[in-house]
Amino acid sequence: MNDPGGDLKPLDFEPRTAQFREEVLAGLRSRPKTLPCKYLYDEAGSRLFDRICELDEYYPTRTEMAILRERIGEIAAVLGPDDVLIEYGSGSSTKIRILLDALDRLAAYIPIDISCDHLQRSAEDLAASYPDLPVLPVCADYTGTFALPPVRADAARKIVFFPGSTIGNFEPEEAVGFLRGIAAVVDRGGGLLIGVDLKKDRAVLEAAYNDAEGVTAAFNLNLLHRINRELEADFDPDRFRHEAIYSEEHGRIEMHLVSTVAQTVTIDGIEIRFEAGETVHTESSYKYAPEEFAALAGEAGFAVERFWTDAKRLFSIQYLVVA
Ligand code: AVI
Repeated sequence: MNDPGGDLKPLDFEPRTAQFREEVLAGLRSRPKTLPCKYLYDEAGSRLFDRICELDEYYPTRTEMAILRERIGEIAAVLGPDDVLIEYGSGSSTKIRILLDALDRLAAYIPIDISCDHLQRSAEDLAASYPDLPVLPVCADYTGTFALPPVRADAARKIVFFPGSTIGNFEPEEAVGFLRGIAAVVDRGGGLLIGVDLKKDRAVLEAAYNDAEGVTAAFNLNLLHRINRELEADFDPDRFRHEAIYSEEHGRIEMHLVSTVAQTVTIDGIEIRFEAGETVHTESSYKYAPEEFAALAGEAGFAVERFWTDAKRLFSIQYLVVA
């Protein structure tokens, strides 16, 4: 059905420079300073994130893939023929292949990603690998508004796949709102297959976000390079350092960029002052005990129907249904 080598132009809702500028300036004018973590993923950031996923210290990707592979029979069984599978933040679409290899006759696969070029390439690769599967890419910030492409009239349920514990990058109250949005998309009868990172020893957590090779540091600092590239800014990334610490109080890893000196940076003609030691909070990565996540999902109208984990209980894949 898919035309090999065919052009799969995504439906395009990609946020533009004006929104990036507005959100960067608002974050750097607030106290404490923040930057939205979704902007870590430009072309260079996405490449660095792919490298993070391969690191020895970064257990989530490896563990989630192992759970997927080991429990694929049970996991694939939550989906049925003619279901529509929607992936939020599909990236390079590696995990979905494990699922697609075990599934038969989906009505469509809809990958949604913020990075249009990356999305188009991986959608074309998938369409070539699964010639009978309608692959319908949507380029969008999945936390914002977007429309789903039309699917076959006789399609059955909608199931969202949201792996990687990206849910942990939302503040818990935002996570509830976001999950409510997914519940509205999949509606009664639909479900959500989600990867959720679990609470564990702080040493394991802090090593995962402070790798010896410095890839996570480069990923964090790339945000300053990106602002320079796209917003006529003059950050000197050598005057900032990466910091990642686990806050027991909040149950989250906090990633910061710390200004090593007092300095003034100009962004599109606007001056921003940094004190020596002042930090910019660039990302939170919440870790959940199983019962904490069940309570959060419950607030959003979901019930946990299945829960899979690894032998060390590092990570989980959960199947939630609209309650
Ligand atoms: C995408 N997200 C789930 C990653 C995480 O672990 O929170 C992003 C990341 N940040 C630093 N390393 C990985």
